[in-house]
Amino acid sequence: MLASGSRAVHSILPMPPIVPPASPVVPVIAIDGPTASGKGTIAQRVAAALGFHYLDSGAIYRVAALAALEAGLDPGQAEAVAALARTLRPEFAAGSIRLGGRDITEAIRAEPVGNAASRIAVHPEVRQALFELQRGFRQPPGLVADGRDMGSVVFPDAQLKVFLTASPEARAARRHKQLIEKGIPANISTLARDLRERDARDMQRAAAPLVAVQGARQLDSSSLDIDQVVERVLGWYRAG
Ligand code: CDP
Repeated sequence: MLASGSRAVHSILPMPPIVPPASPVVPVIAIDGPTASGKGTIAQRVAAALGFHYLDSGAIYRVAALAALEAGLDPGQAEAVAALARTLRPEFAAGSIRLGGRDITEAIRAEPVGNAASRIAVHPEVRQALFELQRGFRQPPGLVADGRDMGSVVFPDAQLKVFLTASPEARAARRHKQLIEKGIPANISTLARDLRERDARDMQRAAAPLVAVQGARQLDSSSLDIDQVVERVLGWYRAG
């Protein structure tokens, strides 16, 4: 009988603490940078090389902007745009984006939608409304996410953070080429002006401004080609 004997009490080993099994960490590579810095192309190529998922967070802001414009809202109406954004369930599949069953892949790329996206993105309520939607992309085996605040706010524990820049001239030229190739008319000086305005809004807003977070690898891609940038990012990731 062990009921009250002190020897028995001393011989009982303390129970090991109950530790839940560690949830496997899904790796994230965050690629942030200003408009038209080439983040999207680089992020997609890095994701393909690693077999990871890809999040184009700018597309999520664009979807919300398109929905807001179509609902007759002004991008300045923070609460109304946030309320609408909370209801959106865009579907991303094989390079296309659908909203309510409609293919909006091309529609969100129009420059007025990009400008409206940049304007709704200044509102903390709107950013909060789109937060979980973005976090949901973190699925095994890993994620490459591009945007403005991937490394600072949405995935602060990302394994690798890259801040990709390029000169304003290089960025305006790239955006021009991108639009013309899609058959969308574009004027380079208008693009350069819009780009400066977007840079200013992205960097000066109080909510999640565009900044290179501590620990981010900075890369100026003005004189590098796509392969060189992709190799650099993969090299950093593989070096751990
Ligand atoms: O055309 P651009 O490269 O500026 O845009 P995008 O990456 O498609 O994103 C559209 C707009 O959403 C940007 O101009 C940003 O102001 C905003 N955005 C943001 O605030 N935070 C993100 N993570 C991604 C985009």
